[in-house]
Amino acid sequence: MRKLFLFAICTLFTHMAMSQTNLITGIAARKTTSLNGAWQYIVDPYGTGFYDYRYQERKENDREAYWNTDEPVNKTERKEHKFTDKYILQVPGDWNSQAEKFLYYEGIVWYKKSFDFTRTSAANKVYLYFGAVNYEADVYLNGKKLGKHKGGFTPFNFEVPDSVLKATGNYLVVKVDNTRHKDEVPTVNTDWWNYGGITRDVQLIEVPQAFIQDYSLHIKKGASLKTSKNIPVEGWVQLNGGQSSKEVIVEVPELKIKKAFPVTGDKVAIQFNLPAVQLWSPQTPRLYTVVISTNTDRIEDKIGFRTIEVVGKQILLNGNPLFMRGICIHEEIPRQIRRAYNKQDALQLLGLAKELSCNMVRLAHYPHNENMARTADSLGILVWSEIPVYWTIDFNSTEVFEKARTQLAEMITRDHNRASIIIWSVGNETPVKPVRTNFMRNLISAARSLDSSRLVSAALEVNYQPGVNKIDDPLGEYVDIVSFNEYLGWYAGLPDRCRTAKWEFAYNKPFFISETGAETLYGFHGDSLTRWSEEYQEWFYREQVAMLKRMPDNFAGLSPWILCDFRSPRRNNQTFQEGWNNKGLIDQQGRKKKAFAVLKAYYDEKSSTPNP
Ligand code: GCU
Repeated sequence: MRKLFLFAICTLFTHMAMSQTNLITGIAARKTTSLNGAWQYIVDPYGTGFYDYRYQERKENDREAYWNTDEPVNKTERKEHKFTDKYILQVPGDWNSQAEKFLYYEGIVWYKKSFDFTRTSAANKVYLYFGAVNYEADVYLNGKKLGKHKGGFTPFNFEVPDSVLKATGNYLVVKVDNTRHKDEVPTVNTDWWNYGGITRDVQLIEVPQAFIQDYSLHIKKGASLKTSKNIPVEGWVQLNGGQSSKEVIVEVPELKIKKAFPVTGDKVAIQFNLPAVQLWSPQTPRLYTVVISTNTDRIEDKIGFRTIEVVGKQILLNGNPLFMRGICIHEEIPRQIRRAYNKQDALQLLGLAKELSCNMVRLAHYPHNENMARTADSLGILVWSEIPVYWTIDFNSTEVFEKARTQLAEMITRDHNRASIIIWSVGNETPVKPVRTNFMRNLISAARSLDSSRLVSAALEVNYQPGVNKIDDPLGEYVDIVSFNEYLGWYAGLPDRCRTAKWEFAYNKPFFISETGAETLYGFHGDSLTRWSEEYQEWFYREQVAMLKRMPDNFAGLSPWILCDFRSPRRNNQTFQEGWNNKGLIDQQGRKKKAFAVLKAYYDEKSSTPNP
């Protein structure tokens, strides 16, 4: 009965997925004022700024609340919070990498930024936009709460009431709490560093009273590409603030397209045919300028047109069979060892993937910053984008489902115009049990209802049996691509285990190895049997590649674990790890290990054969 109830509730939430977030997209092309830079901070491990001494949440006008002014009303007033330039954190940026005292800090940090602001037009509305805050953000402006957001890797925005925003001396305070909790997404155990803070851009966005909030444009699912003429495109434009316009205009100037669509409500359906168009692909990452306008607003974006679909056992990109030469990437930069967040970081990480002859990256295990997908669009790298439904989250909780679904909706809303993204992933290595499969199945249908134009997958579990490795995870029934992580030769036996590996597939679908890898400390050498040596990792990849060459014809590619070594509190071999997961093909200083060349050689060979 309980399972039925849970399924019913999850189904209800799935239908809620039809509702978009109130997220404003296309930020780069809007009228913005950056609030990046030096923010003052107070570390508050006991939440003193939020709870009084009876541990009751402070009232909004409580003068000891850290969101209220830190200026004493006169020289007699006792004030026990004060922000000063002696305590500065850079935004965007995780706090862990900015000072030794923050490396392991988990808890509350109050950020404060003072700013002046003059609207370019008095009639405009103003929103406050955060690229991401890990994990929980409570946002206050001039003592008034604008809102709260949970989820460490997706954007959010709050409208700033005219009554709150001032021309000078605005007092913006953000309470950030990166404490892990069992009932959050992710839960308390992850194999990555819990970088806390305002980790991505903060901007004020100015929009007209009636503005274009979001838009989606893609080639119609199932469209024939036989002739590159008259390719049907469909999508929608989401208006906000009423329909002062009678029509929405969509232009693709390079293709001499300009179409008007009648406004019949907040969501305006659009569809038109593209004349001869250069389809987006890794070989030809062609992006077109798209202009969407109403009589009060205008937004411009760079969009690539391509199709992605599964037909039988194959993934087809623009109708051609696709083999994904991938690599997994965490959002962490070598040498500087911090959360990645800007365009240079994206160019560095994706540039290394290109050096490895990749045509695809799996952005693990959470939505990366928006620069990654936009840079992948430009460089021609396919993307797997994932929400952190990781390992043992609480699948019994409808609240946790809603948290996961919200992060899924925010991820898809932000990036649904990025041609490079072909796969939405709803999770990684979740334990096989009925309540988990229902939970994940409902996330999959939520993803599909938000974006029917892309494929959906997840890293499933392998059923290791004596003599055969079965790919029969029940979730495989609901995904488009049956993906799984396998570590034959690292967590199971030695690399020569690959020579006798037998695989059995329960689904007549493409399959993808979403992780495989072995750990080595850069510069530690020995024979290939010496665990942790570069030679062991090299042997591991040689055996894996030999096994991959024996895989059946529905093998659609792999994304080995992982491009670069990364911090993890779970990795405490104080000789070979010291708080690092060293499965990277590149070490934390950006140096390539011997196995890099083995995988690159395999990818070079694959890229030179048909169906690369
Ligand atoms: C798992 C997991 C990764 C983890 C990796 C490892 O498959 O998905 O997040 O880091 O294995 O054990 O190194």
